[in-house]
Order: sequence, then C-alpha cells, then structure tokens
Amino acid sequence: MRWFLLLVLLSLIVPPESYALEGPQEVEFPSRWGMVTFTHHRHQQRVGTCVVCHHQGVEMGACGACHGVLPMTPLRKDVLHKQCKDCHRDKRGPTDCAGCHNP
Ligand code: HEC
Ligand code: HEC
Ligand code: HEC
Ligand code: HEC
Repeated sequence: MRWFLLLVLLSLIVPPESYALEGPQEVEFPSRWGMVTFTHHRHQQRVGTCVVCHHQGVEMGACGACHGVLPMTPLRKDVLHKQCKDCHRDKRGPTDCAGCHNP
C-alpha cells in the first residue's frame, strides 16, 4: 500500500518537475512580422550548456522576468533578437528574416 501511494505521488510530481527543469519543448513568439517558433529542446541539444542563453542561470526564470522589468535592462525583444542572431551568425543558423519569422 505504501509503495502504491508512493507511485501515485511520484506520477503526480515528476512530470511538472521535469517540465520546470527542462523548460518548454517549443516557445512561440508572436511579432508584427509573424510567428517565430523557437525549438527550445532542439537548441538545448545543439548548444550544450544552458547558461549560454540563460546567462543569469536557468533558476532565474524567463528572459522577461528581468528584461524590460528591472531598471537598466534592455527590452526582451531586443536581447532575444541579438542573442538569436549573434549565435546564428557564428554557428550558421538562419539569419534572414523568413528563417525565423513565419508571416
Ligand atoms: C539557445 C538558447 C537556449 C538554450 C541553450 C536553453 N534555453 Fe531555456 N529558454 C530559452 C528561451 C529563449 C526561453 C523562453 C524565455 C521567455 O519566454 O522569455 C527559454 C525558456 C526556458 C524555461 C522556461 C522559463 C519560464 O519561466 O518560462 C526553462 C525552465 C528553460 N528554458 C530551461 C532550460 C534548460 C534547463 C536549458 C539547458 C539544458 C536551457 N533552457 C537551454 C533559450 C534557451
Ligand atoms: C535575472 C535577470 C535576468 C534574466 C532572467 C535574463 N537577463 Fe539578460 N540581462 C540582465 C541584465 C541585468 C543585463 C545587463 C547587464 C549585463 O550585460 O549582464 C542583461 C543583458 C543581456 C544581454 C546583453 C544585451 C546587450 O545589449 O549587450 C543579452 C543578449 C541578454 N541579456 C539576453 C537574455 C536572454 C535571451 C535571457 C533569457 C533566456 C535573459 N537575458 C535573461 C538580466 C537578466
Ligand atoms: C548559442 C547558439 C544559438 C542561439 C542562441 C540560437 N540558436 Fe537557433 N540555431 C542554432 C544552430 C546551431 C542551428 C542549426 C543550424 C543548422 O545546423 O542548420 C539553429 C537553427 C535554428 C532554426 C532552424 C530550425 C530549427 O530549429 O532547426 C530556427 C528557426 C532557430 N534556430 C531559431 C532561433 C531563435 C528564434 C533563437 C532565439 C530565441 C535562436 N534560434 C537562438 C544555434 C542557436
Ligand atoms: C534568428 C531568428 C530571427 C531572425 C533571423 C529575425 N528575427 Fe525578428 N524576432 C525574433 C524573435 C525571437 C522575436 C521576438 C522577441 C520577443 O517577442 O520577445 C523577434 C521580433 C521581431 C520584431 C519585433 C516584433 C514586434 O511585434 O514588436 C521585429 C519588428 C522583427 N523581429 C523583425 C525582424 C526582421 C525585419 C528581420 C530580418 C532583418 C528579423 N526580425 C530577423 C527572431 C528573429
């Protein structure tokens, strides 16, 4: 009985926790130029370390927790654009508008 309860508890606890740890599989950013679909998990496999993008640490939350909220921080849409494009220039990801924006 104890094991059964433990299993029930685990099945309730594990999925949201691992989601919280790994983040979403994809993130969609609506923009005036159409939807940008960011393949988050695929990028995790490509990039290796989380802090390349989550430069203050994953536990600090989404970019928008600070950018545009804390004083002196550039807006989220500006830092995202910069981070996405800078890396793509180095690592040969898409850099043309339509490579990311899907009008
Ligand atoms: C190529 C860049 C990049 C890499 C590498 C990356 N992430 Fe992310 N991650 C993002 C972006 C962009 C978002 C969306 C942030 C937003 O909505 O403001 C995000 C969102 C998240 C979220 C959700 C945050 C929230 O509160 O909404 C979690 C959790 C997360 N990532 C965890 C990770 C972990 C763990 C790793 C490493 C295994 C990782 N990420 C690697 C770019 C990245
Ligand atoms: C805990 C707060 C915090 C979070 C969360 C955060 N940032 Fe930042 N970010 C800052 C601060 C403060 C600066 C300005 C000082 C600095 O360069 O470190 C900054 C600077 C930057 C810069 C450099 C801007 C420039 O013009 O040089 C980029 C790019 C950036 N952040 C991207 C991101 C992305 C992408 C995310 C989400 C994946 C994110 N940040 C999450 C606080 C945060
Ligand atoms: C640290 C490096 C890095 C960052 C940051 C990064 N990317 Fe990428 N991205 C890549 C690489 C590497 C590729 C794959 C290039 C190839 O092999 O075709 C890629 C491919 C893509 C593709 C092509 C479709 C796919 O997923 O395979 C899209 C769209 C894309 N990235 C969007 C984004 C967006 C939007 C951001 C910012 C939120 C971003 N990327 C940030 C490295 C990065
Ligand atoms: C590597 C991916 C990538 C490329 C290439 C890219 N963008 Fe973006 N763009 C984004 C992301 C991600 C956002 C959303 C940021 C947010 O909402 O926080 C964005 C946001 C924007 C916004 C702000 C949207 C709004 O509604 O305020 C404009 C305008 C824009 N992009 C135009 C362009 C143009 C023009 C080009 C080509 C010169 C381009 N982008 C190329 C990823 C990209």
